[in-house]
Amino acid sequence: MPRFDNQTVLVTGGAGGQGSNHVRAFHAEGANVVIGDIDTERGAALVDELGTRARFARLDVTDESSWSAAVSAAERAFGALNVLVNNAGVQNPPAPIENTDQATWSRILDINLTGTFLGMKVAAPALRRAAGGAIVNIASTMGLGGTAHYAPYVASKWAVRGLTRTAALELGRDHIRVNTIHPGVIATPFIHEPAAGATAAIADFYSPEPFAIPRLGEPSDVTRLLLFLTSSDASFITGSEYVIDGGLLLGPALQPEAA
Ligand SMILES: NC(=O)c1ccc[n+]([C@@H]2O[C@H](COP(=O)([O-])OP(=O)(O)OC[C@H]3O[C@@H](n4cnc5c(N)ncnc54)[C@H](O)[C@@H]3O)[C@@H](O)[C@H]2O)c1
Repeated sequence: MPRFDNQTVLVTGGAGGQGSNHVRAFHAEGANVVIGDIDTERGAALVDELGTRARFARLDVTDESSWSAAVSAAERAFGALNVLVNNAGVQNPPAPIENTDQATWSRILDINLTGTFLGMKVAAPALRRAAGGAIVNIASTMGLGGTAHYAPYVASKWAVRGLTRTAALELGRDHIRVNTIHPGVIATPFIHEPAAGATAAIADFYSPEPFAIPRLGEPSDVTRLLLFLTSSDASFITGSEYVIDGGLLLGPALQPEAA
């Protein structure tokens, strides 16, 4: 039996590079899917592609009323909400801290951190009404170390970890599990298109060549981990952090024989 039959899943940033792959996979495994995104055009196109069991909700994750509308729409359409994936996220234009303006700092924190906070705040009662469920917050390997020129993004993803652990403690007794996924560099518009206000894209200056698994990650790599973490196979896992980075955080895999 498909793992997500009779389950309803809300994916924020669900029209994006990773989000759309997550949505398609949940749908293929039987779930009702709600695509929450500010990108109405791509969200609507994905609903058309999937046909039944799919809805688009125009969701700006920084806006609490927008969240309430999306969660209500999910419950109205499908009867319950069982899984929330806080996946929407944006990067700052690369700059050292001393050249980062406060508006950029606030915008990144608003979307990546406050958006995740609001999502859990508004979805938790719905998950409780469904007698339990799972939340996965998409962080980053940048939430596990420092990265020069990415202070707002790094800070936002570190903070998501603390928020996740706190939510896991608050919601565990209600059978709601909360975990983070920390992707490395994944081939999506996020790395192939410059951030708002930037001229270069990450793919212009990053190469996977030095690392243990010398390729970019694919959305499907992350999707497989996400589906495991939100499925009943992971029923004893909460408050945990899952790195999926092809060895990026290990550092360079030196090749002395090639010298
Ligand atoms: N691609 C990578 O290398 C990488 C690595 C680590 C972590 N991540 C994280 O993975 C997640 C998904 O990124 P992606 O690679 O799919 O990027 P993407 O740019 O393809 O998709 C991001 C999606 O978020 C949506 N979005 C932006 N602001 C929003 C808002 N205010 N409300 C709702 N939706 C909004 C966009 O419209 C887009 O559809 C992000 O949280 C990102 O930080 C990405």
